Amino acid sequence: AKKAVLGPLVAAVDQGTSSTRFLVFNPKTAEVLTYHQIEIKQEFPKEGWVEQDPKEILQSVYDCIEKTCEKLGQQSIAASNIKAIGVTNQRETTVVWDKLTGEPLYNAVVWLDLRTQSTVESLSKSISVSNNFVKTKTGLPISTYFSAVKLHWLISNVRKVQKAIEDSRALFGTIDSWLIWNMTGGINGGVHCTDVTNASRTMLFNIHSLQWDEELCSFFGIPMSILPRIRSSSEIYGLMKTGALEGVPISGCLGDQSAALVGQMCLQDGQAKNTYGTGCFLLCNTGQKCVTSEHGLLTTVAYKLGREEPVYYALEGSVAIAGAVVSWLKDNLQIIKASKEIEKLAEKVGTSYGCYFVPAFSGLYAPYWDPSARGIICGLTQFTNKCHIAFAALEAVCFQAREILDAMNRDCGIPLKHLQVDGGMTENKILMQLQADILCIPVMKPAMPETTALGAAMAAGAAEGVRVWSLDPKDLSVVQMEKFEPQINAEESEVRYSKWKQAVRKSMGWVM
Ligand code: G3P
Repeated sequence: AKKAVLGPLVAAVDQGTSSTRFLVFNPKTAEVLTYHQIEIKQEFPKEGWVEQDPKEILQSVYDCIEKTCEKLGQQSIAASNIKAIGVTNQRETTVVWDKLTGEPLYNAVVWLDLRTQSTVESLSKSISVSNNFVKTKTGLPISTYFSAVKLHWLISNVRKVQKAIEDSRALFGTIDSWLIWNMTGGINGGVHCTDVTNASRTMLFNIHSLQWDEELCSFFGIPMSILPRIRSSSEIYGLMKTGALEGVPISGCLGDQSAALVGQMCLQDGQAKNTYGTGCFLLCNTGQKCVTSEHGLLTTVAYKLGREEPVYYALEGSVAIAGAVVSWLKDNLQIIKASKEIEKLAEKVGTSYGCYFVPAFSGLYAPYWDPSARGIICGLTQFTNKCHIAFAALEAVCFQAREILDAMNRDCGIPLKHLQVDGGMTENKILMQLQADILCIPVMKPAMPETTALGAAMAAGAAEGVRVWSLDPKDLSVVQMEKFEPQINAEESEVRYSKWKQAVRKSMGWVM
């Protein structure tokens, strides 16, 4: 078959909590030419524990790349057109492996994992509220969410990890590091690095100096020798060592929420996006200023698109459970067979009839930061059925987004006039309408939904001189928006929101 001449293409690995994807973009139009997706298992070995198999994650990346290249071939496009690969990933999830064998020394401890709750409580007590150096240096509250405590747990509890550290064989990484080390050769010269956005989620990284911080490492008991080298989000880290894309530079790396911010073109101070994945994350670009939240948000590195480029920061509202509540209804309660069925179920009733569902499965993140909260469903009557519970689950996602939007507006001083959204759940039109109703502002969804992968592809392309479409928003398909306007009045919305807050209070302090 005649090969279509498209010019250089850019691709991205999007390794999320629930699935891995590999997507190929036409840089001129931001169009996805093809992609492949593989679901990833989560294991729950004990109450509150969440693990994944690092090798399964890695294999899923390789398989997605191969399958995507095959699909490209079916469109008569040669894989050799791909000139740069970006990596974007679930953040905070912690892996330790042996650099001589390449073997992980334990499962990946996932960001949602709660096993470090007691460590977090005792570390928090040991630190003075007036001089909280962890918060000042990292922009983060001490929480089970971030890598440092997970790594501390691995070092304290897993003999193999201790031994590998003693023998100078241990390497630590978030998922980006684990993937890039393997993709660039693993035991045969793999590059051990991370980017500033992923590093900013470890609680070991000083977001002002952009370096690992000695005081933080000693506070959490982490040997600095096992940490990856810090790089910008857009530069050549190394070349793919095997497979259909052997020799192609890996030249972009961003935590998934940062990538979505870039992919949504929120590149200016005050621009924000909300991504609905396993969790839900609202990030607002604060430019080159590091803004400290007074309302329970995080300060995080947004991106640094090149070695010599300036660093941009963001305020972030993190919600642990969004899409995960739908998976829970599917896998645990089995009231739906496929995630997308929730929309039909919720649509049947169009209301929760006073039922409120707080899915605090992993405690509550922003703005509460309460690891002792647990999920509750309340307001039940004999009338309540699975449709109401489905509706309440969708409403919960929207209420949680409202809480972080309120905090963001208070921190920024200028309320957002609309909310730019993306992520898998935004396919759900009921959810999007509910979100507009509960926020009382329009919700805008880009026509091109793959903004996370797009951000990573943009970073990768930039480092390789392949400009991924012009940055002029006028001619970007990505900024063609579908708009959802609020359809209920603000008063009704407030009544429902205050009921939600009552339900949240009931969920807090459950496990002491
Ligand atoms: O901080 C966790 C986040 O990066 C996970 O994203 O898309 O897997 O919910 P996602």
